[in-house]
Amino acid sequence: MVLGNPLRTKSAAVHPFPAGFVWGASTSSYQIEGAVDEDGRGKSIWDLFSHTVGRVKNGDTGDVACDHYHRWREDIEFISRCGFGAYRFSTSWPRILPTGNGTIEQRGLDFYDRLVDGLISHGITPWLCLYHWDLPQALQDQGGWLNRDIIQKFAEYARIVARRLGDRVKHWAVLNEPNVHALFGHGIGSHAPGLTGLPNMLAAIHHQNLAQGVALQALRAERSALILGTVLSLQPARPSSSRDEDYRAAERFDAMWNGTCLDPLLRGSYPSSVANDFTPLIMEGDLVTTRQQIDYLGVNYYTPMYITYDPQSLFGAWFGARPPNMPSTAMDWPIDAAGLTEGLIRLRDHYGNPEVYVTENGACFNDLPGADGTVSDVDRITYLRAHLAAAQDALAVGVKLRGYFVWSLLDNFEWQEGYSRRFGVIYVDFKTLKRVPKASYQWLAILIKG
Ligand code: FCB
Repeated sequence: MVLGNPLRTKSAAVHPFPAGFVWGASTSSYQIEGAVDEDGRGKSIWDLFSHTVGRVKNGDTGDVACDHYHRWREDIEFISRCGFGAYRFSTSWPRILPTGNGTIEQRGLDFYDRLVDGLISHGITPWLCLYHWDLPQALQDQGGWLNRDIIQKFAEYARIVARRLGDRVKHWAVLNEPNVHALFGHGIGSHAPGLTGLPNMLAAIHHQNLAQGVALQALRAERSALILGTVLSLQPARPSSSRDEDYRAAERFDAMWNGTCLDPLLRGSYPSSVANDFTPLIMEGDLVTTRQQIDYLGVNYYTPMYITYDPQSLFGAWFGARPPNMPSTAMDWPIDAAGLTEGLIRLRDHYGNPEVYVTENGACFNDLPGADGTVSDVDRITYLRAHLAAAQDALAVGVKLRGYFVWSLLDNFEWQEGYSRRFGVIYVDFKTLKRVPKASYQWLAILIKG
């Protein structure tokens, strides 16, 4: 493959990372697997949502996605060739428990069993995430995250997966971005299950926090040697102007977005500015359950959020104008790598300096193959370089950052944007499903292999 300029600038890219630093790539089940009707898989809320007219751009669905369910061997080869030592994927709850609880679908577990063995045989450490938003539809029909009964069902699902894979999978993440799932899926309805309203959002947050706590206990009880963590979306909320009301709005947004995940887990409380919102949902002992010992925290970082006072919005604060001339990705997300350092330092200073992994970081740029067949995603390399430098800034000031996972291994189904948004370091032609490693993949390979 012809390699473009960005690769040659490698030495200026990033200083060496500490020995043992983990390099990984991230994906999630619904976004890549496809094979939605195979091997007894039950429906997930994303099947229903994506098949509802008008919900996802261009009517795209995850029916085929990257067809990873059949092409996982090839994908492992790509992971291996890049030099990634770790791979973060999620298990699909409805593949393993088609109706959410009760009957176990062994063929679903078999798939992850093969995947895990394949990874290990290539020297790649599997990092398993139990929930990346694809709730079994059967549980949604019983209220999903609005119904407290889900807590025990989730713990049972966690136990089942740990029993089957916990002998080989050591690294576990319980949830992926419960805040995003709650806000977009249950507050404004742009994600599955498409619910709206503040009470729904709050219930989804609280019940995920509880389920996470109970699942952490269940996993620990199942196998004491597991390395347990969870994954949060940690993006700084900045006022969109110097007006006082925007400052207050940014604080409220920060509490709702970042604080409602961090604090119940690490402090056993909700941030004081939003605690009243949660009072009706909290039962005795809940905040003891949400607070759990974890071995690491997974941080997903993409962009800072600029927040404005908006009394008409879900909780009075919403996305507003960003500073003029700020560069942005093809998602129109502003680019500011310093936001990553800021979030990591916040964990150091206010949350007891836990061991941290960046479990997702990356950028959407929709580069296509050129005439020579290569994909020259120079903007993605620039983004990754800046964010890795920001990670080093955090390391230099004592943040216990232990690894970095790029989002994403493959271009994939980007939720309500369907296939119109590309985050992969590997290009996927969604007609032929052919994979083409992009320049960013080559750049990472050189970086990782030193
Ligand atoms: C994160 C999600 C991931 C992907 C990236 C772009 O919020 O965890 O699935 O959509 O954003």
